[in-house]
Amino acid sequence: MDPVVAWHAEHAYFNQLLRVLLRQVDLFHGGGQPNYELMQDIISYLTDYSDRVHHPREDVAFARLALRCPDMKLPLARLEQEHRVIAQAGQALSKLIQAVIGGAVIQRAELEVAAATYLVYYGNHIAKEEEDVLARAAKELTAQDWEAVRKAVPAISDPLFGPDAAERYRELRRQIALES
Ligand SMILES: [Fe+2]
Ligand SMILES: [Fe+2]
Repeated sequence: MDPVVAWHAEHAYFNQLLRVLLRQVDLFHGGGQPNYELMQDIISYLTDYSDRVHHPREDVAFARLALRCPDMKLPLARLEQEHRVIAQAGQALSKLIQAVIGGAVIQRAELEVAAATYLVYYGNHIAKEEEDVLARAAKELTAQDWEAVRKAVPAISDPLFGPDAAERYRELRRQIALES
């Protein structure tokens, strides 16, 4: 598959997940009972796949692109830095949800702030990449560059959307199907 098409497809998947997460956060905000296990599955997936595969590949693509397009150096450096913020925000939210699942009483506002931070930050990050980076990368990066991007991390199959999807994400896949 064309690497930019695959890149864009992953963003579409991540946006779907963020929408499912937002629906749960809305439930919580309205005083309802969200599905905490589902929320945790979404963040686990994003931590396991996006933080470990998608973002390291982007980091290589950004570095290559910055060499070819010096005008993009600063925005690309910002996006790379955002990968670290997203990973931290995901861990913070995951810890809170885990605590709730474990029966801890936490401040509603604390969970709301952590979830909103994650959702908004992540959504904006993807939108910026879609607007500013993908088309330039398609134009400027060479076959060699794409090879380096592919090799940034060992190939693993996507555990949620890939052909060998993991059993643990069965409920999440059902929710995504309902959402789309
Ligand atoms: Fe990114
Ligand atoms: Fe991305």
